[in-house]
Amino acid sequence: MSTLPFPFPVVRWDAGDVVLIDQTLLPGRLEFRRCHTVAQLCVAIGELAVRGAPAIGVAAGYGLALSWIRGMEEGLGSEECEAQLGRDRRTLAATRPTAVNLVWALDRVLARTEPLRAEANCEQVLVALLCEADAVLDEDIAMCRALGRAGQELLPQQGTVLTHCNAGGLATGGYGTAVGVIYAAREAGKEIAVFADETRPQLQGARLTAWELLSQGVPVTVLCEGAAASALRQGLIDAVITGADRIAVNGDAANKIGTYPLAVLAARHAVPFYVAAPASTFDPRARTGGDIPIEMRDPQEVCSWRGVRSVPEGVDAWNPAFDVTPADLVTAFITEHGVLKPPFPTALLEG
Ligand code: MRU
Repeated sequence: MSTLPFPFPVVRWDAGDVVLIDQTLLPGRLEFRRCHTVAQLCVAIGELAVRGAPAIGVAAGYGLALSWIRGMEEGLGSEECEAQLGRDRRTLAATRPTAVNLVWALDRVLARTEPLRAEANCEQVLVALLCEADAVLDEDIAMCRALGRAGQELLPQQGTVLTHCNAGGLATGGYGTAVGVIYAAREAGKEIAVFADETRPQLQGARLTAWELLSQGVPVTVLCEGAAASALRQGLIDAVITGADRIAVNGDAANKIGTYPLAVLAARHAVPFYVAAPASTFDPRARTGGDIPIEMRDPQEVCSWRGVRSVPEGVDAWNPAFDVTPADLVTAFITEHGVLKPPFPTALLEG
């Protein structure tokens, strides 16, 4: 089992490279992937070697430093480095269209280093880019801890939480949003067990949530998504908590495909459905869920698993990576500012 420190070192800057836990290999192998170029980092994001909206944001922040340092090594002047930075920002932003934290982190790092980039030498700019990327990482961990503390108060002293996909340490700077609430509950002395939806087609729940909870000594049981209705109906679940990739102003929330049916099921069985996400996941430019772009992924992810075909040749698949849960199915949002209950959007705007 993992001997990793906790919060997990999901994304790090190391000797001029971005180093990631390679999540495509878990749970079988715990290995790190070294990205030397922005192109390699974009491939890693596209392949889900690093995934989860906040973790992608952290990685992209370091990606800007990667762009700059490679430019310096190629002997580019500050103007050429700046032009390359702009191109790399656009390439990074296009890798995962639904995760708003990606664009949020890129814009933040660029905005906060802009005055310096206009006047300082290349070395000073690199230091500034790295400092800002470090700040995005450190603040993400702090926000997730705060969010966890706020959210754990919603949970009973003893109970079971159903979660979907992986909104844990592996999906963030290291601590987690939905799963962070569970860590915080346990830190507060509560006995919380987890049911983890396996999460077709990439199995983030079965592979990643189960792996990280096991590594932290949290009791975890994996179930097929299709079994969630039965678990809820049998009264095995006290609360459903998921993360989000983007939340619109009216409270509609995009998250891994399969979240919306879970919210419908939770409402049907009068079980609270919570969405845990930091403020960086709230998109003021998305008025409703209809404004959230939904990433469409390769049908091959549905048609085969690790190269073995499971759907007849000649049959296509429809593979949206995310769905949108309407705000009226969300019992509350759990953020680092506290718990936001309806009516939305008033509560969101006040948050
Ligand atoms: O496709 P993924 O694995 O990046 O999807 C991740 C999710 O849907 C998470 O629930 C979401 O990003 C929140 S992570 C704290």
